[in-house]
Amino acid sequence: MPKLASYNGVVDSIEDIKVSPMSRAFLFSDSVYEVISFYKNEFIDFDRHLDRLKHSLNETKISCSINECRSEIKKLLSDSKSQNGYIYYQVSRGIDSIRSHFFNDGDCERFGFIEEFSFFNQSPLKVLLVDDIRWQRCDIKSTSLLGNVLQMNDAKSMDCNEILMHKNGQLTEGGASNIFFVKDKIIRTPELSSNILPGITRHQVIQIIKEKELDFEEGSYSIEDLEEASSVWFTSTTKGIISVEEIVNLKTKITPKCELLETCKNAFVRKYFS
Ligand code: PDD
Repeated sequence: MPKLASYNGVVDSIEDIKVSPMSRAFLFSDSVYEVISFYKNEFIDFDRHLDRLKHSLNETKISCSINECRSEIKKLLSDSKSQNGYIYYQVSRGIDSIRSHFFNDGDCERFGFIEEFSFFNQSPLKVLLVDDIRWQRCDIKSTSLLGNVLQMNDAKSMDCNEILMHKNGQLTEGGASNIFFVKDKIIRTPELSSNILPGITRHQVIQIIKEKELDFEEGSYSIEDLEEASSVWFTSTTKGIISVEEIVNLKTKITPKCELLETCKNAFVRKYFS
């Protein structure tokens, strides 16, 4: 069955949606996006995703009503009647008559689609540590993902399914996820900055860590810290919490079973997927 999609508020089969090649999303990647999961036909942390979309829109000066986005995303889910999956939703700065770096204020173009997805039984990740070659505003969830795309495909050619990025030796995040690791029995994650996305799952996991009163630190971490980690996890809307089995170009000795990871994972599944 073709995917259900929404274009400027009109819900249709994805195959019947026509998009202009003069869209600034197409020409410049001049657009921001969200990936929002749902389980049993209910969104998970919907308002937090909308707040982050609002942040991305404000920081990129794209004019778009967040209430319009909210009702379009909700309509897509209710029209689809899908049980488990996610909605991809992007807002671009609209369609130009000529290609110009200079933009006109007040325009936007909205597009979303729904994808059915099972969140369980995902295998541990094999990871490549790479240089973070992205721009300096990774707190904005922009569709301009060329840095991630290039590095992730280099990793794929080495039989890896994720990357772990560092900027001048300081850990940032995964190609499509945030990172946590355990060193000296303390769970650690890079602190929020303009170099990483404030992940919704990252926030959910930190809440769980605090509720369970586990030892935890947000800070600035180096490759050497990672080298001493006993456990490494990635978090994202589509991955949930997922463990890393190997960082192929680092000597880290990851232990196969980590109690702290199991505690967080079990609590996460109980809280969001039951
Ligand atoms: N990516 N960091 C990056 C670079 C990401 O692309 C993502 C998510 C995250 C995790 O954010 P969240 O927990 O809110 O999903 C961190 C989405 C899933 C994607 O692009 O498909």
